[in-house]
Amino acid sequence: MPREILVTSALPYANGRIHLGHIVEHVQSDIWVRAMRMAGHTVHYVCADDAHGTSIMLRAEKEGITPEALIDGVWKEHTADLRDFGVAYDHYSSTHTEANRELTYRIWRALEANGHVESKPVKQLFDPERQMFLPDRFIKGECPVCHSKDQYGDACEVCGSTYNPIDLIDPYSVVSGAKPVEKESLHFFVKLADFEVLLKTWLQERRAAGGLQAEVVNKLQEWFAGGLRSWDVSRDAPYFGFEIPGQPGKYFYVWVDAPVGYLAAFRELCERGSKPDLKPADFERFIRAGSDTDMVHFIGKDIIYFHTLFWPAMLHGAGLGMPTAVNVHGFLTVDGAKMSKSRGTFVNARTYLDHLDADWLRYYLATMLGPTLADIDLDLKAFEERVNSHLVGKWVNIASRCAGFVHKFFDGKLADTLPETARARYDAAAARLEACAALYEARDYAAAVRLIIEVADEANAYVADHAPWVMAKDESRRDELHIVLTLALNYFRLLTIWLSPAVPATATRAFEFLDDRPARFDAARAPLLGHAIKPFAPLATRIDPNRITAMIEASKESLQVKSNPSPPNSPLEGEGSKARAAASPSPESRVPSPETISIDDFARLDLRIGKVLACEAVDGSDKLLRFELDAGELGRRQILSGIRAAYADPSKLVGRHVVFIANLAPRKMRFGVSEGMILSAGTGGNELFLLDVDAGARAGMPVK
Ligand code: MSP
Ligand code: ZN
Repeated sequence: MPREILVTSALPYANGRIHLGHIVEHVQSDIWVRAMRMAGHTVHYVCADDAHGTSIMLRAEKEGITPEALIDGVWKEHTADLRDFGVAYDHYSSTHTEANRELTYRIWRALEANGHVESKPVKQLFDPERQMFLPDRFIKGECPVCHSKDQYGDACEVCGSTYNPIDLIDPYSVVSGAKPVEKESLHFFVKLADFEVLLKTWLQERRAAGGLQAEVVNKLQEWFAGGLRSWDVSRDAPYFGFEIPGQPGKYFYVWVDAPVGYLAAFRELCERGSKPDLKPADFERFIRAGSDTDMVHFIGKDIIYFHTLFWPAMLHGAGLGMPTAVNVHGFLTVDGAKMSKSRGTFVNARTYLDHLDADWLRYYLATMLGPTLADIDLDLKAFEERVNSHLVGKWVNIASRCAGFVHKFFDGKLADTLPETARARYDAAAARLEACAALYEARDYAAAVRLIIEVADEANAYVADHAPWVMAKDESRRDELHIVLTLALNYFRLLTIWLSPAVPATATRAFEFLDDRPARFDAARAPLLGHAIKPFAPLATRIDPNRITAMIEASKESLQVKSNPSPPNSPLEGEGSKARAAASPSPESRVPSPETISIDDFARLDLRIGKVLACEAVDGSDKLLRFELDAGELGRRQILSGIRAAYADPSKLVGRHVVFIANLAPRKMRFGVSEGMILSAGTGGNELFLLDVDAGARAGMPVK
């Protein structure tokens, strides 16, 4: 049954450039859209820039332009990058539009009218110099757990702990450097708990229908277990966004109007009348509750929370239909590690395009993409080899080896019929590839491409066995030669049809050569016979590895040119970043770092055994314990340690041995001087475990 589907990708932030990580997502959704259309479905494909938030406001300020001017410039870059990667949105909008304001207000008013909104005062850190509340990412300070300096207000990148910015030691504003003060302000909340039952039902139902991956549902169940707290959806001026109706000085948090941007972009598309299959009235038909149309989102695993809890709750609370599917993908790594600016593997879309062909990466990604949340590795060597061996060696070569003979001996025309055995071969291959339609739909592109390459191998074996270049020397074998060329070029066309969602630009050139424009997968059922083809022009070239090296070098350079000391490329704010942190630990922490240290580096640490003489909670701090240690020959040491949450009764620690760093420079803290650091295992919070030592060890002993 043909479906009518609205497809979206997550809206890229308008304060950064499109990089290859984004490209994974846009290519994944673009392949899906092309494949679904070729399978006969009606698909509308939209995206937009996510233009609001504190980061954009501050960046514009720094550049001395208005936020509007900033987001306009970025929009031009983003749309050009995506277009040149062959990502063909029907409409690419921005969240800073009247259509989006109207829809956001409409949804908000409905939420209010249905009783899902509450307000209460919130205490938050405030920059007294810049006169603004500070999102977590705009506050830095010392991690209360591991005491690393210059950590963000929501999470420590060194030890991975998450905490409240209020708990940072010696916090400072990233905006002005001032010491933030606590200040209270009225905030608006959406009562998520109202939707708990509904969301649970939706999850199960979507899971059963294939609209949510099992891994996603499991993640959500963990969140449900913690209870759904009300979601803080307001921010105080100054803020770049939409003011909340009737609440001067209060703005919608960027994550409120961002997903509404999906619908606003779609509405603009409906109203523009640029698609014959879409009328203005279709907008309401698509978005109403109980609609028989589909809404399918493609997102990365860091924003699951927003799309499977907040967003469906907002839609339902406003009486609108909820998403049909939220398809989640993993993160891009390069050569097995998180993209890194210093290694040159944080590659912007434009830098890639300056050196390499878009379809090459699209093809490689297709061979890597599956329906899971697994990360996708861009192994640069495998990329080069696979493109050269598959795209050029197995696919394009079929055409380049046969085309010349068709023109030389047959006036550029394919044979009128195929003898039975040849036709049977073709039909079997065509039937085999029909499985790809379902694989594309299930987002198992890797499996689809594997199948296509198997058939390409079969086609190449056929050409090699029949050696048209030998036949061509024998005038008495012309008819036979014509058949071989006709079947080979039909193999080529068959492969092109099924590869076209992944490599659309190359496929278009291939179809120009064949003088054929198949719009549906169905077209593959009947071979091209008695048909004139065009002269062959090279369709794809091999990757020259020097160009990959040049791209990596250029990515290192672009880092030096662009210095952006202030935080976000990812302007995650407030609970946003925390939801992200919870959803996905930073990829860096999951990928082994290639950096090693020498034994000399290790030797610089003076690790010692200490015996706990006294231990007590520090008054006025809910994080710290004060230890007094017997450090043997080093005498006595006072150490303040942020492990209070893990040890409810500190007096129980007296008498035991711990491991500590003895040569850490003493630190003067609000609660006294700390002379070292005690080691514990774990990730933070109440998940911390002091290290033990076997009986016989004495205070002051070195640990080596
Ligand atoms: N603006 C929000 C999305 C709002 S949707 C209503 C946002 N923007 S983003 O620019 O940070 O990310 C956009 C998309 O790109 C997200 O789905 C994110 O997961 C994805 N990716 C960003 N970096 C990525 C990789 N390194 N790898 C794969 N996808 C990545 O989040
Ligand atoms: Zn830390």
